[in-house]
Amino acid sequence: MFIALLSALLAFSEDPFRPVFHFSPTANWMNDPNGTVYYKGEYHLFYQHNPFGNSWGHMSWGHAVSRDLTHWEHLPVALAEENGVMIFSGSVVVDHNNTSGFCTGGSCLVAIYTGHTAAKQQQSLAYSNDRGRTWTKYSGNPVIDLEMKDFRDPKVFWHEGLRCWIMVVALPKEHKVRFYTSPDLKAWKPLSDFGPAGAMEGLWECPDLFPLRVEGSNEKRWVLVVSINPGGPAGGSGVQYFVGDFDETGFKNANPSATALWADYGKDFYAATSFSDIPVKDGRRIWIGWFSNWQYARNEPTEVWRTIQSVPRELGLKNTPAGLRLIQRAVRELTARRQKGMELKGVTLEEANRRLASFHAVTYEVEIEMEGEGGLLTRKGSIEETRVGADGAGRVFIDRSRSGAVGFHGAFPGRHEVSGSSRLHVLVDRSSIELFAGDGESVISDRIFPAAGSDGLQLFGAPGAQVRRLKIWKLN
Ligand code: FRU
Repeated sequence: MFIALLSALLAFSEDPFRPVFHFSPTANWMNDPNGTVYYKGEYHLFYQHNPFGNSWGHMSWGHAVSRDLTHWEHLPVALAEENGVMIFSGSVVVDHNNTSGFCTGGSCLVAIYTGHTAAKQQQSLAYSNDRGRTWTKYSGNPVIDLEMKDFRDPKVFWHEGLRCWIMVVALPKEHKVRFYTSPDLKAWKPLSDFGPAGAMEGLWECPDLFPLRVEGSNEKRWVLVVSINPGGPAGGSGVQYFVGDFDETGFKNANPSATALWADYGKDFYAATSFSDIPVKDGRRIWIGWFSNWQYARNEPTEVWRTIQSVPRELGLKNTPAGLRLIQRAVRELTARRQKGMELKGVTLEEANRRLASFHAVTYEVEIEMEGEGGLLTRKGSIEETRVGADGAGRVFIDRSRSGAVGFHGAFPGRHEVSGSSRLHVLVDRSSIELFAGDGESVISDRIFPAAGSDGLQLFGAPGAQVRRLKIWKLN
């Protein structure tokens, strides 16, 4: 037992790409996060999982729980493929008042997922009365069947004002989402459709819908999230959102129908889904997204396990000159992983680089603001580095063209950019970079696959450039 544990730990620590503060499956394939919910002190993360191999197939729900959103405990597969029906993406709610009749105690967890066969996709239920440890598929499944091949990824929540459950579910090929209502999670009535609108190149998948308070006011707006693949802002998979209102008739877009807003301008953020049932006194809306892209996920250079999830992010809405925009910040719980930091203020680029010469790490967090063009050469080795910075003309970027292993797929190497503030917050893990600019209104998430020894950090910029502020913490 001890030997097995030790060798598992060794395997973890020797794997150059195994993340330290991002979630990855112990083994085999993973895609979308599913069923994110808070219940009785635990955050649950379910995920699209192939228990039998490192590529997509036999889709089931893997499962992990966390008390702080940064340390995850792996649990057995929660919902497994059965009789040729795969378990596609979906959500989990807390049925506080046993509206479903599934709860043996006061409340229980109910999963609403898509049952997938080659012939069709239907919405189905499963429930758990032991804090998500074991699940029973509902004998009355499916609860919605439109005899359609593409009809998936239900996200459900309790609407306090309307006193009913709301489901938002994708009609991927029609570039629509459909809203349903239900008193008991079993009987569903269609409410209305939204779409086509925004970006429509690829399939619409994995919708989400939630209210957010506009920062600095008491105004509340609704955000409708729709992942799209392909057609994302950096090519391949991407997450778009709409801002507006939601009432008993459905969703009303506050922007012109053609407006496409993007949550993330990197290549690796997809199928983002928010945690339901976070206590009101906490008040946060937190989501997590798949840190990969359908273009090359299957080719990523890991063998035992494949793909990771983004760091959980707190969401907000901010009034910007361009209109209301989603903002994202790494969950505050992550700061508990900071080790002793280092801070520089008002120094030149050259002086900062002298101080950074002895810095070696592969998992850390940086806050940096420079005057003009400049930023980080992160995960720097003798022949590789990832550039993360501001171009001095109002854009921020990650350039992973020479970040390490990039040749496994033609769509992988490249530079991803968006307009944004030069005040940067950067998270570096063993195989990923997340860049949050300004208050988090511009975000870029990119995987990287550098050699384990590429642990240097330098700044780049014009000679003599001023580093207004630099803060670094290694993360354990
Ligand atoms: C999105 C997606 C979902 C589907 C799942 C299957 O990445 O295609 O629409 O439910 O993955 O694994």
